[in-house]
Amino acid sequence: MAYDLIVIGSGPGGYVCAIKAAQLGLKVGVVEKRATYGGTCLNIGCIPSKALLHASEMFHQAGHGLDALGVEVAAPKLNLGKMMAHKDATVKANVEGVSFLFKKNKIDGIQGTGKVLGQGKVSVTNDKGEEQILETKNIVIATGSDVAGIPGVQVDIDEKVIISSTGGIALEKVPANMIVVGGGVIGLELGSVWARLGAKVTVVEYLDAILGGMDGEVSKQFQRMLAKQGMEFKLGAKVTGVVKDGKGAKVTFEPVKGGDAVTLDADVVLIATGRKPYTEGLGLAEAGVVMDPRGRVEIDNHFQTSVTGIYAIGDVVRGPMLAHKAEDEGVAVAEILAGQAGHVNYDVIPGVVYTQPEVASVGKTEEELKAAGIAYKVGKFPFTANGRARAMQATDGFVKILADKETDRVLGGHIVGFGAGEMIHEIAVLMEFGGSSEDLGRTCHAHPTMSEAVKEAALSTFFKPIHM
Ligand code: NAI
Repeated sequence: MAYDLIVIGSGPGGYVCAIKAAQLGLKVGVVEKRATYGGTCLNIGCIPSKALLHASEMFHQAGHGLDALGVEVAAPKLNLGKMMAHKDATVKANVEGVSFLFKKNKIDGIQGTGKVLGQGKVSVTNDKGEEQILETKNIVIATGSDVAGIPGVQVDIDEKVIISSTGGIALEKVPANMIVVGGGVIGLELGSVWARLGAKVTVVEYLDAILGGMDGEVSKQFQRMLAKQGMEFKLGAKVTGVVKDGKGAKVTFEPVKGGDAVTLDADVVLIATGRKPYTEGLGLAEAGVVMDPRGRVEIDNHFQTSVTGIYAIGDVVRGPMLAHKAEDEGVAVAEILAGQAGHVNYDVIPGVVYTQPEVASVGKTEEELKAAGIAYKVGKFPFTANGRARAMQATDGFVKILADKETDRVLGGHIVGFGAGEMIHEIAVLMEFGGSSEDLGRTCHAHPTMSEAVKEAALSTFFKPIHM
């Protein structure tokens, strides 16, 4: 039987694309080599890490935050096995959810490793080595990404002592001492998990700021908050060696601005220096699919590769490596294949770091606006001046809004604070509709909520806040 669409990869990009295409009447098959659907995100990424972030935050709160609220409890005891079981159960429920949705939408799941044989043909080889050839009108490559490692440094990741994010969600005991190489999203999220559970965490980062690419003010203040929580930072430090040593490992780094190399010992080293597009064994070159100079699949504005009928979305193509960006591309490509006008607005893709407090951002940073020569105004509001935040002892952080100086159109929003990852979406919706800071500031916000700080930041952008 010929398909309208074969999607290779069932991560958030692939499975969402498949569901949308099926909803639009296409006959869809999804090729997945893993035993379960959901890709990196559901199996070993976003979902399990969020289960551990939540559970470790509860553990930390029980030990540190409740007393001040008049809730006196005995020192909490960690049952890491049970915490991991909670994580595993969360993953199971989510991957089974995708299976259910495939059945509901009459999508064929095809277990095995997919390979593109050219326009309209995909080979799938299962665990037993049996190959089948699928005929299809269109192919979507949604194979995601893999751990990049440290460029130019040979690192033997054993997922026990020297770990990637995969080992970082599955340690059997809390290390006394953990070094995180890379102060990006994975390093800070998983570093937070193990720090809350009792590890001494040191982050070694090449740049002179954590969360490179985020608004500079956000990054600086956030680093201070993490340092207050006990995390240590070595910035402007290029890691040049990670080697096993006895039961632990040694990490060597050189100051970027010059100086002597430093070597630190750790029980566990987390390598969190980025991810690379996963295209191995897909047969893309043989099929004539052109790659860009950074090893990503090159696509046009309609997600089509250099070969007609072969499309690509998510981490294998340009743009931020984010599950929700992949999902939106999946929807857009499904709509295009169904004859509709699929489109993704890359100017309004939120980014969230699920630490405590959370960091969330959408649109432009101050640095980007400066670099682009755009005249802008800034409005800020701290959670220390928000009643609800005080009531919840969640006063760390602030909201920052950037708007065009002339038109007042909101160009960016940045939030550090409890629940930032939820609050960011009102700024995203506003931006999607081309709204101004005055539109946001004049929108009635329920009292008392953390979101009132967003309104107040908007008020300060075009005039003055009330509560400051
Ligand atoms: P990243 O690109 O966010 O951060 C990697 C960091 O490692 C950079 O700051 C870089 O300067 C540093 N680095 C590179 N080489 C180094 C060296 N030799 N020495 C010291 N530092 C070095 O990558 P990360 O954190 O591994 O995440 C991978 C991808 O997964 C990212 O695209 C991220 O957006 C995505 N992700 C998103 C999450 C979220 O949205 N909450 C959660 C986890 C991952």
